[in-house]
Amino acid sequence: MKLLNRIVVVTGAGSGIGRACAIEFALEGAKVIAADINLEGADETVNQIKAASGTAIAFKTDVSKPESVRQLVEFTIKTYSRIDALINNAAIQVNKTIEDITFDEWNLQMSINVGGIFLCSKYFLPYLKQTKGNIVSMSSVNGYFVEPMCAGYCTTKAAIIGLTKAMAIDHGHEGVRVNCICPGYIDAGLAEGYFQSQPDPLKAREEAGKLHALWRIGKPEEVGRVAVFLASDDASFMTGASVVVDGGFGSGLPPK
Ligand SMILES: NC(=O)c1ccc[n+]([C@@H]2O[C@H](COP(=O)([O-])OP(=O)(O)OC[C@H]3O[C@@H](n4cnc5c(N)ncnc54)[C@H](O)[C@@H]3O)[C@@H](O)[C@H]2O)c1
Repeated sequence: MKLLNRIVVVTGAGSGIGRACAIEFALEGAKVIAADINLEGADETVNQIKAASGTAIAFKTDVSKPESVRQLVEFTIKTYSRIDALINNAAIQVNKTIEDITFDEWNLQMSINVGGIFLCSKYFLPYLKQTKGNIVSMSSVNGYFVEPMCAGYCTTKAAIIGLTKAMAIDHGHEGVRVNCICPGYIDAGLAEGYFQSQPDPLKAREEAGKLHALWRIGKPEEVGRVAVFLASDDASFMTGASVVVDGGFGSGLPPK
């Protein structure tokens, strides 16, 4: 097991990619704190981990609120006295143009997708320095290649790539590694929301698969396994990286 008894906090662990990350970490022996604004979802993640003989606890957290993040940090340290890896995964996606998105929607998306990473990293860093731990944040291929109708979301995902590099430079000398993952379309909540926002959701889903060299959208666990790799000692010389996990996003040919 790559992460036996490591303490790992996963935000947005109540569904989709966050849930898959939590499960993959637990399968590698980590003790997981599944943090989500949706406690029911986080509880379900914990149930699935326990059913596979893993260790996990759910904790209700709103990553956009300083007090809520401080409570998550306090709970983690009270429970386990340490943290080894922070997985910043929680996000929302507003599928609107800049003309259509409201001021409040813009601010909310920024405060969860970027502000949440700022707050969780800020308040966990003193403890990550103690364990020479690491941070893995969830960006997106939308940090590099933009798509219609989600300008604000793309902005947040590009910001995460910059923030990752900046934190890596600031904290490398303290032994803390910071990386991010840029998934292509993955069969999880935000992609589904995007398909539903299109005139023909089923067609949008089918067309999305064809945008990948592998001619399909990815599975959440295919991202979770990369998060495990980045958080493990196997990635000991990786920091400031944005690791693309996108099945060859951009174009594709039908399988032979
Ligand atoms: N699904 C994709 O195709 C895809 C592609 C690239 C990147 N991503 C990234 O992967 C991550 C997960 O996406 P997903 O598709 O699994 O989405 P999802 O909607 O299934 O999961 C997001 C989780 O975040 C939680 N959350 C939302 N606001 C929160 C808050 N304020 N505090 C705490 N938790 C909060 C939700 O309750 C939910 O459980 C996101 O960062 C997303 O940008 C997804």
